[in-house]
Amino acid sequence: MIIPKPLEFKQLTGSFQLDRECVIGATDDGNAETLVGEYLHSLLVRPPFDIPLEVSHFADSASKRTIRLVKKRASDGNAEQYELKVSDGGIQIVASTDAGLTRGVQSLYQLALQQVNDQSNASIQSVSLPAIEMTDKPRFVWRGMHLDVSRHFFPVDDIKRYLDLLAAFKFNVFHWHLTDDQGWRLEIEQYPELTRVGSAPHASEPGRSGFYTKSQIREVIAYAAQRHIEVIPEIDLPGHTQAVLAAYPKLSCTGGPFEVSPKSGIHKDVLCVGNEDTFKLVFAVLDEIAELFVSGYIHLGGDECPTDRWKECKKCQKRWADEKLKDENDLQGYFTRRVVEHLKKVNRVGVFWDEVLERGLPAGHVLMSWRGMEHGIQAAKLGLKVVMSPHTHCYFDFKQTNDPDEHGATWADPITLEKVYAFDPIPSELDAKSAHHVLGGQANVWTERMPDMKTVEMMVLPRLCGLSEAIWSDAKHRNWDDFRKRLAAIAPWLTKNYNVHKRINDL
Ligand code: ACM
Ligand code: ZN
Repeated sequence: MIIPKPLEFKQLTGSFQLDRECVIGATDDGNAETLVGEYLHSLLVRPPFDIPLEVSHFADSASKRTIRLVKKRASDGNAEQYELKVSDGGIQIVASTDAGLTRGVQSLYQLALQQVNDQSNASIQSVSLPAIEMTDKPRFVWRGMHLDVSRHFFPVDDIKRYLDLLAAFKFNVFHWHLTDDQGWRLEIEQYPELTRVGSAPHASEPGRSGFYTKSQIREVIAYAAQRHIEVIPEIDLPGHTQAVLAAYPKLSCTGGPFEVSPKSGIHKDVLCVGNEDTFKLVFAVLDEIAELFVSGYIHLGGDECPTDRWKECKKCQKRWADEKLKDENDLQGYFTRRVVEHLKKVNRVGVFWDEVLERGLPAGHVLMSWRGMEHGIQAAKLGLKVVMSPHTHCYFDFKQTNDPDEHGATWADPITLEKVYAFDPIPSELDAKSAHHVLGGQANVWTERMPDMKTVEMMVLPRLCGLSEAIWSDAKHRNWDDFRKRLAAIAPWLTKNYNVHKRINDL
């Protein structure tokens, strides 16, 4: 019934009436289970439901029909494992962590949504749930969705909508691509020009300007945390930095001037790695990010950095000579090493696009394989942690079908739902020992041609549902025909609430 497909699922006889007479029971006082209860409450008071339930202690809920959130003290090794049981007498979710309880709540919510025949009724006060029993846990610890907010800017309410979608399908990582040539979207107190100039305040096209204040970032992190989604910020360095150079042209090799780029593609002007002021800015940015974000990871890009300017820059050439580097590509290796040293000071692990591997990624950091899987395979064999996000299966800026009207697409080759569903983050080239280094999988959403959240939704749905199963459920449990049926069961809710690609109608 549920997407992603649970480990074990049994339909039983009987049913439970979820209505306003029920109560949410949490085991302990005022602690985290109560927060999970409040999350469930928040889901049941938004359309199509209008079932506000009190969150209380077991002791106070004994006489009522109860949804019990039970925290088992013993840990079973998988932080997101849970059991969900619906029977005539009540509903019970059991897990050893709040993350596990939250995944159970997300399954219960899908089960309830599927029982609603009329999705246009926005105030359903009672729903009959079939009796079921399920045990579930994810295959991977990193189940990510990325969003590029540089090429187009998305306000906080859009980000929350996106997070709700991630939560509905049990994603646990939101990779927030905050900076690129077309815009710097994060307030940095020590370098105010980054947003004053770099957020493209004078862009004439809609959706091209804007940035997040620190308090808005905190709001997003808290919203994600309630859904047990980790927010991983990305600052793309040292390429994809024309917005930085527009704000601080002295950090380029030529001196500028530059504009926040109105164009897509790879830009030749990048940070000058011969200039110490470049490192001052980068370290200040990392310090402020480490203070603001909770995640132990910071993504530092590293992709598509041309060396043209470095070859002709006196400062870069001096650096090359002083550091006895082999060639100009080694300047990026030098940059990465210094950035990684600073990451250690702020107690963070770095995540990098796979180009960084060519000049050596220091141990302990994570490689995100995007130019196919081969760089990820190579890294895993070297013992580095890897996230698989190949453009062949996981780039949701590629078209979904061969229809000519996919205006959000950057690339013509379609990545169909079937293809996403067949994605396996562990390719056959990896033996069990190396496979262990694969943290999981992720889809990337580059927004050059997605000016608003509606277009983003059309590009990610329903592929996001297919991906959720590809990275949650065991490969041997997956079955396309069975998935299609389950997608059809959730489709009325999806299409009522989100802008879904019409492909969903042919399933
Ligand atoms: C990338 O798609 N340039 C990471
Ligand atoms: Zn230079």
